[in-house]
Amino acid sequence: MKWLVLLGLMALSECIVIIPLTKMKTMGEILSENNLLNIFMKEHTYRLSQTSTGNSNITSLPMRNFLDLIYVGNITIGTPPQEFRVVIDTGSSDLWVSSIFCTSPACYKHNTFKYNESSTYRPTQETFNIIYGSGIIKGLLAYDTIRIGDLVITDQPFGLSLEEYGFESAPFDDILGLNYPRMSAIGAIPIFDNLKKQGVISEPVFAFYLSKCRGKDSVVMFGGVDKAYYMGELKWVPLTQAGDWRVNMDHISMKRNVIACSGGCHAVLDTGTSLIQGLTSLVNNIQRLIRATPHGFKHYISCFAINILPSLIFTINGINYPVPARAYIFKDSQGHCFTTFRGGTEQDNISETWVLGEVFLRLYFSVFDQGNDRVGLAQAV
Ligand SMILES: *[C@@H]1O[C@H](CO)[C@@H](O)[C@H](O)[C@H]1NC(C)=O
Ligand SMILES: *[C@@H]1O[C@H](CO)[C@@H](O)[C@H](O)[C@H]1NC(C)=O
Ligand SMILES: *[C@@H]1O[C@H](CO)[C@@H](O)[C@H](O)[C@H]1NC(C)=O
Ligand SMILES: *[C@@H]1O[C@H](CO)[C@@H](O)[C@H](O)[C@H]1NC(C)=O
Repeated sequence: MKWLVLLGLMALSECIVIIPLTKMKTMGEILSENNLLNIFMKEHTYRLSQTSTGNSNITSLPMRNFLDLIYVGNITIGTPPQEFRVVIDTGSSDLWVSSIFCTSPACYKHNTFKYNESSTYRPTQETFNIIYGSGIIKGLLAYDTIRIGDLVITDQPFGLSLEEYGFESAPFDDILGLNYPRMSAIGAIPIFDNLKKQGVISEPVFAFYLSKCRGKDSVVMFGGVDKAYYMGELKWVPLTQAGDWRVNMDHISMKRNVIACSGGCHAVLDTGTSLIQGLTSLVNNIQRLIRATPHGFKHYISCFAINILPSLIFTINGINYPVPARAYIFKDSQGHCFTTFRGGTEQDNISETWVLGEVFLRLYFSVFDQGNDRVGLAQAV
């Protein structure tokens, strides 16, 4: 309660920094124009976390799915500032950028950071590897000034890529992770923790509004919550465990029948994942229930079904969050409709896990409250 009042005051004192996000033409769309989508999907199937290579230098992260939809925002690195398009990702904790050292094809397709043109750049000899489900980054740890809108963070550790695989057609230059330090593959203090430590924000809170249309209007806000982006009250959910944006979910139902998560499960709120992902067997069951048929790596469905299929209801902390058919079915550029459910989370060792990506987060404004280790959800405007 106290916190909500505080947020109200902060809105008045204009402490909230709002960064516009742009919804991009998606990798899925870009690739299907080239008829490469199926090849790409075959090579980049969903892998949540840990690949056991036995190499202690390699740290794995839950994957970001860059297919279908993506939201990017601009940040700058260095002095004078160099601008980059970043995916702002609540599923990972690191910031990395393509560097001029990098000779991988992906690096020629993106803005690269010119360390030699920044007066505040500070190099190290430390190397890192990050494995995402859809790619691998190898690089060097460095320090420099980062600007996110009006927020300035000095001496922020970040990664300079030396090699990049799997990001060739990514419509962004870098990934900026907003998860807890525990999830950092680089092992450096994440941007958000540095923002808190350097006293740049007054409340350790950030929030996402992801608009439903391509174009402008989507935002990530730091330091507070702007009530203009949601309706009704925020409903708070404690994290399953401080240190990851993961909460307990009660069940998933359709027309009052529980169809997944029957004994309770985990839900990960992930702005770096486009779709809704769960255990392959349960996802296949949902596809069967709605009569979606597999073709290649997607499940297709009659576009008419959008008008008749019931909502899928995610119940979290006793509150129902319906996702209607118009949200969980997409239409591709050829006018074919496909579902946005994917399997693969069985590789998450912890429990039955569902990743609630942008399909869910477009419907529900989401607040990430690091101070109280909880998330807030409310119907987005
Ligand atoms: C980000 O920067 C690019 C140019 O580098 C610009 O075209 C785009 O509009 C910017 N996006 C936002 C959200 O400010
Ligand atoms: C890990 O990195 C260190 C230093 O770069 C290197 O000496 C060592 O061989 C690496 N270990 C493996 C298993 O690759
Ligand atoms: C920095 O390095 C890049 C790539 O090697 C080069 O193109 C650029 O001219 C250099 N800038 C300065 C100021 O030397
Ligand atoms: C998965 O869980 C098993 C048993 O609890 C454990 O031995 C194994 O190391 C875990 N694997 C990973 C990748 O965390």
